[in-house]
Amino acid sequence: MIISPSVLSCDFGNIQRDTEMLHQSEADWLHIDVMDGVFVPNISFGFPVLEAIRKHSNKVMDVHLMIQNPDKYILDFKKSGADILTVHYETCPHLHRTIGAIKEAGMKAGVALNPHTPVHLLEEIIQDLDLVLIMSVNPGFGGQKFIHASIAKVEKLAKLIKEKNSHAIIEIDGGVNLETGELLAEAGAQALVAGSFVFNSADPQATISALKKL
Ligand code: DX5
Ligand code: ZN
Repeated sequence: MIISPSVLSCDFGNIQRDTEMLHQSEADWLHIDVMDGVFVPNISFGFPVLEAIRKHSNKVMDVHLMIQNPDKYILDFKKSGADILTVHYETCPHLHRTIGAIKEAGMKAGVALNPHTPVHLLEEIIQDLDLVLIMSVNPGFGGQKFIHASIAKVEKLAKLIKEKNSHAIIEIDGGVNLETGELLAEAGAQALVAGSFVFNSADPQATISALKKL
């Protein structure tokens, strides 16, 4: 299992310390949540924070854009250190063009689906994607309750990926812990994002190791 701890739940007063802690853990990727206060009802952080994180870890930066008009900022995210750039299906009227631009900029391209957005909408683009991010909460905040219907979405997505011979990785974001993680692993998830579960635990590195074994 690929583990991508969400930096959104870290202590921003100690971002260097927390990034170094994640860097030394068994985490595979660092999940970076960018929110614009327009697409989602919260504002998180932007380029200077990504650059600060990049300075203290060379792990894969898994950037989740919860912003309108992501096309406008693709090159800026590349410059700030993003390795994987995931845009929301709901924000991209020209998704095929957006995915092409992300790849052309030298990053892996992902698409995130809100809880109400069905998997079959990816039928015509799945072969071009490196990653699909199933949102198992409504995006905007850490620490929300896992939406159980997401498990069936993971199964549907795994089927679609197989049918279309796509190499896309299935990643899940929101309310992940050891219990929901186990169900997701059984359903076909390959990467798990975990924010509050990791950072609220007594030993975040041990929690990451436990998730990694799922
Ligand atoms: C929510 C973000 C998540 C968030 C997950 O909009 O996309 O990445 O940090 O937090 P937890 O794991 O606490 O649900
Ligand atoms: Zn996220």
